[in-house]
Amino acid sequence: MQNHLTIVDHPLVQHKLTLMRQTTTPTAVFRQLLREISQLLAYEVTRELETDTKTIETPICQMQAPELAGRKLALVSILRAGNGLLDGILELIPSARVGFVGLYRDEETLKPVQYYFKVPSELDKRLVIAVDPMLATGNSSVAAIDLLKQAGATNIRFLCLLAAPEGVARMKEAHPDVQIVTAAVDDHLNEHGYIVPGLGDAGDRMFGTK
Ligand code: URA
Repeated sequence: MQNHLTIVDHPLVQHKLTLMRQTTTPTAVFRQLLREISQLLAYEVTRELETDTKTIETPICQMQAPELAGRKLALVSILRAGNGLLDGILELIPSARVGFVGLYRDEETLKPVQYYFKVPSELDKRLVIAVDPMLATGNSSVAAIDLLKQAGATNIRFLCLLAAPEGVARMKEAHPDVQIVTAAVDDHLNEHGYIVPGLGDAGDRMFGTK
């Protein structure tokens, strides 16, 4: 495998992330930025997808042209905040198969509790990209990857917007084979399990709840 951690330091990604971090950014703008940034991150996470060639006709001549090889990839949203990343990526890869893992974080123990699991068939033959904007303690992300592996997935990547060093370390320990792609690794987690400086509660900010 390539690097366990890939930080997408592209200026467009970093600029959009700065806007998203700001308290004054309204819900509608936050959601739009998340959609845009998810596509830039998806570009990076799919960089090494395999291609075949097929014969096509251009208006000028015949050529051997590349196309994506193998099974359609599977996007798995870790509910509920994962859906904010999912929508944008699906615009870029409309034929992807989609799964959902429902885990909520117990606010006292910070441990994940499962309430929903539905994923595409033949996960073992697909690249599986699990999406969740915030890799904080890593507890729910690691639990979601555990479930995906139990369902047969062997080639998994984890796409998030922001990570804490604690979450990156936890994922590396539990799932060293899973590449993390993120826009930034922040400083630390606070006592409530929030990423510092972070952007607050990603779900609340994208859905306008509180
Ligand atoms: N989940 C969030 O939405 N934000 C954090 O900072 C940590 C976990």
